[in-house]
Amino acid sequence: MKSISDLGNLSGKKVLIRCDLNVPLDGDKITDDGRIRASVPTLNALREAGAAVIVLAHLGRPKGQVKPEFSLAPAAKRLGELLGQDVQLATDVVGESAQQLAAGLSDGDVMMCENVRYEPAEESKDEAERVELANKYAGLGADVFVSDGFGVVHRKQASVYDVAKLLPNAAGKLVEKEVEVLKQLTTETKSPYVVVLGGSKVSDKLKVIDNLLKTADTLVIGGGMLFTFLKAKGHEVGTSLLEEDQVETCKNYLAEADKLGKEIILPTDVVVAPEFKADAPATVVAADEMPADQMGLDIGPESAQAFANVIRSAHTVFWNGPMGVFEMAAFANGTREVAEALTKVDGLSVVGGGDSASAVRALGFADDDFGHISTGGGASLEYLEGKELPGLAALADN
Ligand code: 3PG
Repeated sequence: MKSISDLGNLSGKKVLIRCDLNVPLDGDKITDDGRIRASVPTLNALREAGAAVIVLAHLGRPKGQVKPEFSLAPAAKRLGELLGQDVQLATDVVGESAQQLAAGLSDGDVMMCENVRYEPAEESKDEAERVELANKYAGLGADVFVSDGFGVVHRKQASVYDVAKLLPNAAGKLVEKEVEVLKQLTTETKSPYVVVLGGSKVSDKLKVIDNLLKTADTLVIGGGMLFTFLKAKGHEVGTSLLEEDQVETCKNYLAEADKLGKEIILPTDVVVAPEFKADAPATVVAADEMPADQMGLDIGPESAQAFANVIRSAHTVFWNGPMGVFEMAAFANGTREVAEALTKVDGLSVVGGGDSASAVRALGFADDDFGHISTGGGASLEYLEGKELPGLAALADN
C-alpha cells in the first residue's frame, strides 16, 4: 500500500479521491460530522501539494436512484467550512456537470461529484458494469487515485475497488491510520484484551465473535444482542429484541469460550420499559427475571459498573456498538459508562465506527478522550474478522 508521498510531485495533477462522507442527518442538518473532519488531513495534504482534487463519496443507500434526500450537499457545505474554501458540488456523478467542474479546476481546488450511489453501476455485482463506471470516474481527468474512505473499504464497489485498479494509487492518511490501529488490534495486543460488543444484531457480529474468541481475553456483551445471549443461557427476555435463529449459535459461543478459558460477560441487570419510547417508565430488573411484558433497552447500573471495571483494567480495548438506546436519555447510562471507562484505559482504546462513534460524540466525549475512533463500523469489524477488504486489496495490487 503506497502513501500519498509515493505518488511523486502532485503539483498541477488531478487527484481523484474516495472519501467516506456518509454522515448521519436530521433533515439536512448533520448530527455527527466526524467522518468529514477525518477526511480533512488528506485533502489538505493534497491541496498543499498543489493538486486539484475531485472527491467521490456516497450518502446512505439510494440504490441507484437520484433522490434529493441523499444529496451530498450538506456534506459539501460542511467540508467547505472545514477546509476554509468553497467545495463545488456537481449536480450529477459523472455527467456534464461533473465533467465541467472537473475541467475547470485550478491547483488547490476541491470539487465533489454527487452521491456515487445515484449510479446503479456503483454497487453492481456485474464487474463489467462497475468497470465501465470506474472508467468514467477516471475519465474526469484524474492522474492518480487516493483511497481514503475507510468506512467503505469493505465494499467491492466501482469508486472503492474498480477505479483503484485503473490509476496509480495510494492510501490516504485516514486509511493508513485506521489500518495501523487495526493491525495493532490483530498483531500487537497487550493483555488483558477486552472487546465490548453491542448493537442490535448478533447475526451482524457472528464472524467477528468467532475470531475474537481466539484473540481477545474477554468479550463483554451489551446492546440488543445481549438478549439472544440471555435466552441462550435459558433466561426469558420479555418483549426484547431477540434473534431466535441465533440462540443456538450463542450457546455454542458460550461453550466455546469455556473451552478456551475465555470469558463472555453478560449483564446481570437490565433497564426495561413497556415500550420503545423516550418517556416510557423505565425500571431496573435482574437479567434473569425480566417481566414478560417489558423490553430491555439498556444494561442496568450494576452491569454498567461491572463492565466499566473490566474495561478499566484492560490494556487493549475495542468497542463496537452501543449498550442501549443511547439516543433516549433514560437508556443512555450503559453506553455512557462504557465510553467513560474507555477514556481511562491505560493502553490502546479503540471505538469502532458508526453508531458507537456517534454515541460518544452525542454523549459529549471528545475524540481525543480515546486512543482512536474509527470511521468504519462494518469495515473495522470485517478487518477483525480476518477478511480481505476489497478496497485495501485493490491498493496492494498497484
Ligand atoms: C458506513 O456507514 O458504515 C459506511 O459508510 C458504509 O456504508 P454502507 O454500509 O451503506 O456500505
